[in-house]
Amino acid sequence: MAVRKVGVIGCGLMGSGITQVCAQSGFETTVREVSQELIDRGLSRIKSFMEAGVKRGKLKEEDVTSTFRRIKSTTRYEDLADCDIVIEAVIENMDAKKEVFSTLDKLCRKDTIIASNTSSLSITEMASVTRRHDKCIGMHFFNPVPVMKLIEIVKPEITSEQTYQAVREMGQSLGKTVVTAKDTPGFIVNLLLVPYLLDAVRAVENGTATKEDVDTAVKLGLNHPMGPIELLDYVGLDTTYYIAEAMFQEFKDTRYASPTLLKRMVLAGRNGRKVGRGFYDYNSK
Ligand code: 3HC
Repeated sequence: MAVRKVGVIGCGLMGSGITQVCAQSGFETTVREVSQELIDRGLSRIKSFMEAGVKRGKLKEEDVTSTFRRIKSTTRYEDLADCDIVIEAVIENMDAKKEVFSTLDKLCRKDTIIASNTSSLSITEMASVTRRHDKCIGMHFFNPVPVMKLIEIVKPEITSEQTYQAVREMGQSLGKTVVTAKDTPGFIVNLLLVPYLLDAVRAVENGTATKEDVDTAVKLGLNHPMGPIELLDYVGLDTTYYIAEAMFQEFKDTRYASPTLLKRMVLAGRNGRKVGRGFYDYNSK
């Protein structure tokens, strides 16, 4: 089955990026958020990103117009009933994701694929609340979605080969390179990334070096585009914390245990760039 109509649940940082790349790649895309205010915020994020792309000479004005022509927005799940695939990008919380899977299962066409953009949670567990286990799959995008070239497809045992091939083909038609992982916590990227980010926080917490020096060391010593503390702010401290907790629960390995400093910052709401403040202050920039 070839995918033509796409639904996206959530128009936050990841959901808006997924909506953008789908619509930009020619798919009719309907994005659902809980309120008009969140829809407007997500759509204006897409607009600013694409306009910055026009200024950089990466896109043309007509790309912006044609992308927006393909995007529909709604607060009603019912408007996604006719999609070939629906990709959820809600908060990294199993109960929230199960609720989305269960709602979509009841409303969508029998052959609609339900995908999750989860960074670490089990697709098998999400699929367990549906009557279409074979049509559930993971499709993990990276931030910023329009720029990052990777999609991790998470294929549990229960997913059919037909679903996997349809999602693989769709991922490639978004201009992304696709890798495939088993349904184990963190898949490939976060299995490696999360202990590294937590270790960077521990280095700052222990006084090994300042956050600025940790970032500079990694940028210049390893040629990464961002240092780990900058990257934490970029991904979101809360998101990283939830992912680490899920991995710690599963593996019971202290490599995935969040340092106290990270926990305290999340409790204080210093969740990174998206709220203007994390390890660094973005309000003044
Ligand atoms: N429109 C179109 N293209 C754009 C763009 C825009 N608005 N903004 C940037 N780009 C393109 C640039 O043209 C450039 O493309 P090129 O290499 O073909 O010339 C590329 O993106 C990079 O741009 P720049 O070098 O100018 O650098 P920026 O400062 O704009 O890029 C960044 C910022 C891409 C975010 C870079 O710092 C980076 O790669 N950081 C690391 C990001 C990362 O690791 N993300 C993964 C996080 S982990 C995750 O998401 C998983 C989750 O589960 C936690």
